[in-house]
Amino acid sequence: MSSLPVAVFVGGTSGIGRAMAEAFARRTNGDAHIIIVGRNKASADDLIASFPKPTDSNAIHEFIASDVSLISNVHNTTAVLLQRLERIDYLVLSSGVLIFAGRNETSEGLDDKMALSYYSRWTFIHDLLPLLRQSVQGARVYTVLASGPNTPIEKDNLDLKKNHTLGKMTAALTTYTNVAFQKLAKDEPRIHSLNHAFRASWYWKIPYYIVYPVFSFLSITPEAAGNIHLDALMDSPAGFNSYDPKGKLMSYTPADEETVESCGIILWN
Ligand SMILES: NC(=O)c1ccc[n+]([C@@H]2O[C@H](COP(=O)([O-])OP(=O)(O)OC[C@H]3O[C@@H](n4cnc5c(N)ncnc54)[C@H](OP(=O)(O)O)[C@@H]3O)[C@@H](O)[C@H]2O)c1
Repeated sequence: MSSLPVAVFVGGTSGIGRAMAEAFARRTNGDAHIIIVGRNKASADDLIASFPKPTDSNAIHEFIASDVSLISNVHNTTAVLLQRLERIDYLVLSSGVLIFAGRNETSEGLDDKMALSYYSRWTFIHDLLPLLRQSVQGARVYTVLASGPNTPIEKDNLDLKKNHTLGKMTAALTTYTNVAFQKLAKDEPRIHSLNHAFRASWYWKIPYYIVYPVFSFLSITPEAAGNIHLDALMDSPAGFNSYDPKGKLMSYTPADEETVESCGIILWN
């Protein structure tokens, strides 16, 4: 078995996932197995071409195309990974779309934003547990979404089909992720850490040099954001961690046991 680190970036073709994949490739000098999951092959090819050329012949840099808004596609992708890999050391999840639109159901009946930001990510973690458990130093899972305090869970309206609002959805995504991570941290001691981060501000889609002079107090370069989040991932303490937009550990008031036990599993399955 190759001792090179194995890292999977779901949502690694753009934004923070891409910046973290770039930072990871730089830090390992390309000597790693790096897998990018997303839809945009051209962007993935461009990213992979930018990685340092590895010196270890076991290094692999590859792209797996998958529309992960459908959970059936996620299962297909994890089946490929389970077949091909012996372990996963780092799993970074950042797939998503801007949350400005209302409810929009996929053919599987889930809201597309909830599917991308929560359900698909949980399916990746859940399906890939056999590989995460095999990491020698303990796998690290990092989801970039919206860390923060928990809000009450509507147990009879988990998919928010009733009274759907954007505010309710973002609060629910934060809470679902926290509670499910708490549950997993408790049940899976072989996984080193489960980390929920808040995406740092930067102006990825507008040329950086245009906005920086005006918004420098708010923005950082994509490269800096990638390094901030990668540092947080690499240095993460054991268990469940919550990070602020600057990659600093935040205090987190855990959900109570009853919520973790009753909702952690429901949300996860
Ligand atoms: N807390 C906050 O205030 C805050 C603010 C902004 C963003 N966020 C969240 O932080 C996360 C990362 O943000 P970002 O700026 O890095 O996002 P981004 O630049 O828009 O990147 C999103 C990634 O998701 C992938 N993706 C989108 N739809 C997909 C699909 N159907 N199937 C597979 N992959 C898909 C994209 O890949 P392809 O195009 O290749 O499919 C891309 O790699 C997102 O979840 C976003 O919602 C949080």
